[in-house]
Amino acid sequence: MWRACYELLAARVREPRWAFMDYGYAPPGPPVLELEPRDEADRLCIQLYEHVVAGDLRGRDVLEVGSGRGGGVSYLSRYRGPRSVVGLDLSARAVALSTRERGGPGASFVHGDALAVPFPDDSFDAVVNVESSHCYGDVPAFLAEVRRVLRPGGDFFFADLRPARQVERLRAELAACGLRVHREEDVSAGVLRALERDSERKLGLIDAWIPRPLHPAFRPFAGIAGTRNHTGLRDGDQRYLSAWLVAPPQPAPAG
Ligand SMILES: C[S@@+](CC[C@H](N)C(=O)[O-])C[C@H]1O[C@@H](n2cnc3c(N)ncnc32)[C@H](O)[C@@H]1O
Repeated sequence: MWRACYELLAARVREPRWAFMDYGYAPPGPPVLELEPRDEADRLCIQLYEHVVAGDLRGRDVLEVGSGRGGGVSYLSRYRGPRSVVGLDLSARAVALSTRERGGPGASFVHGDALAVPFPDDSFDAVVNVESSHCYGDVPAFLAEVRRVLRPGGDFFFADLRPARQVERLRAELAACGLRVHREEDVSAGVLRALERDSERKLGLIDAWIPRPLHPAFRPFAGIAGTRNHTGLRDGDQRYLSAWLVAPPQPAPAG
C-alpha cells in the first residue's frame, strides 16, 4: 500500500522543489539554525533532521533509509561534512528523482528495501531514518538490518510517528535491537508546532504542485491543520518519537 502510494507521488508530482516529505520540527523560541537562502523554504523539515541527527557526521559514511525525495541526504551532505551519504528508498521513482535533482558532496541514491538493506555488514558509521518506519511490515527486521550494516560504535538516528497505543511497542523494539539507547525523546509538541506554522504555506504548495484529484488524500498525508494526523498529535492519539542509538564498540583484542 505505502509502496504504491509513494511510487504514485513520485510519478505524478515531478516538481523538483518538493524535496522533503516529513512533518518538520519547530523548537520553542526563535530559529537558530543558519541556512543558505535556497534552503529557507525547507527550514522546518531541515530542523527535524538537525534535531534527530544529533551526533557528528564529519568524515563518516552515512546511510539514510527511506530517503524520499532526497532533501535530507542533500542537506546532510552539504552541511554536516560526511565522507559519503547514501539515500536508500523503496520507491524507484523517488530514487530516480533524487539522483536527478539532489546533489551534494558524496551524495548518492540507491533503490532498495529497509528490510533487506543492499549493503554488506559493517558498511556505515551512521544510519538515519526519518518518518519512514511506519511503512515497514516488520520493524524488528529493519532494526536488525541497521545493526548489521553499522560499524562498531556507529550511530542510529531515528524519528517517526505512531498511534499512542503503539508507542510502548516501538520503545520495546528499540530497546531490544542490540543497540544501546543513548537518547530518546517525545518530540510531538515540536512537530505539532511545525505542522501548525506550515499549514497555510503547504496548502498553497498543494494547489500549485499536486494534481487536483490527489488533493483530498494528500491533505491528511501532509498533516494540514484540522486533518487526521494533525488532530491526532494535538489530542495525544498520535505521538512522534526521536531516538539516538549506538552500536556496541569493537571488542578489545584478547590477551
Ligand atoms: C514520509 S517519506 C519520508 C522521506 C524522507 N525521510 C523525508 O523526511 O523527507 C517515507 C519514505 O519511506 C520510503 N519507504 C517506505 N517503505 C520503505 C521500505 N520498506 N524501504 C525503504 N524505504 C521505504 C517511502 O518510499 C518514502 O519515500
